[in-house]
Amino acid sequence: MRNVLTISGLKGGTGKSVTALNLSASVALYGKKVLLVDCDPQACVSQWRKIDSNGNDHDLAQVLAGKISVPEAVSGTDIDGLYILPAGFDLFSISLKLTRRIDNEKLLRLVIDEIRHDYDIIILDAPSSCGYLSLAALTAADWLAAVVTPNNDWVSDFYSLMRIVRYIRRSHNIPLGVAGILFNRCNSEKQMENCSVPEVLEQIRPLIYKTMIPDDEILNKKQASLSPLSLYDIKAQASQAYLGIAREIICAFNLK
Ligand SMILES: Nc1ncnc2c1ncn2[C@@H]1O[C@H](COP(=O)(O)OP(=O)(O)O)[C@@H](O)[C@H]1O
Ligand SMILES: [Mg+2]
Repeated sequence: MRNVLTISGLKGGTGKSVTALNLSASVALYGKKVLLVDCDPQACVSQWRKIDSNGNDHDLAQVLAGKISVPEAVSGTDIDGLYILPAGFDLFSISLKLTRRIDNEKLLRLVIDEIRHDYDIIILDAPSSCGYLSLAALTAADWLAAVVTPNNDWVSDFYSLMRIVRYIRRSHNIPLGVAGILFNRCNSEKQMENCSVPEVLEQIRPLIYKTMIPDDEILNKKQASLSPLSLYDIKAQASQAYLGIAREIICAFNLK
């Protein structure tokens, strides 16, 4: 069962967390059972769960410290079928300890392996950068989706990420695949083409999701970036786009 997808990218602010949250919610709205794992000490996707908390304070740091199991740390949400394994800033301290041994890069994969059969899909929100938590989030994955914005550096950023992917495949013997490249804050194909070298784009194009997430002012509002947009404006352009990406992923992952 290859159902673990990490939302990744080396650059901050491209929309990984917004994507992880809205994509997870959208896949759940299609009736699938989804676990969203927050792998970032900044805990962007956990903010929402804190607002709508059921009183469960357990998080990923405690799981990685071996204090609790994944099921003990998982909370339900306001959306049927969507569950969250939240993060807190403690994840930063535990990552400093775990970074000392290369074997520890596989730790998150080992704990996720224990529960992968309990969900249709598990979506991880990876931090930016090449630190321990990014490596662990990618090592835990069967697939990665890279989130990029239309700017002149997107191809070189993607190639840098691929170097890390090759490192993980080699070092841990894991068949980590590229599920796709998601263009965020992109309003048209033309905009994507204008910031890409045509020959390079032609090569990479099969990897790019057909659905693009537009730059939608509503996602820039604080509350909207903290909770799934579809909960309060399903008709917003960005909500509709995330439902489109969810359909592409449900299809690619062959989720029943
Ligand atoms: N499609 C979008 N339209 C408008 N604003 C967006 C969009 N995607 C992301 N943003 C804005 O960019 C900010 C950074 O996004 P975030 O998901 O936290 O990035 P990352 O996780 O890659 O660092 C968000 O808080 C939001 O304000
Ligand atoms: Mg983020």
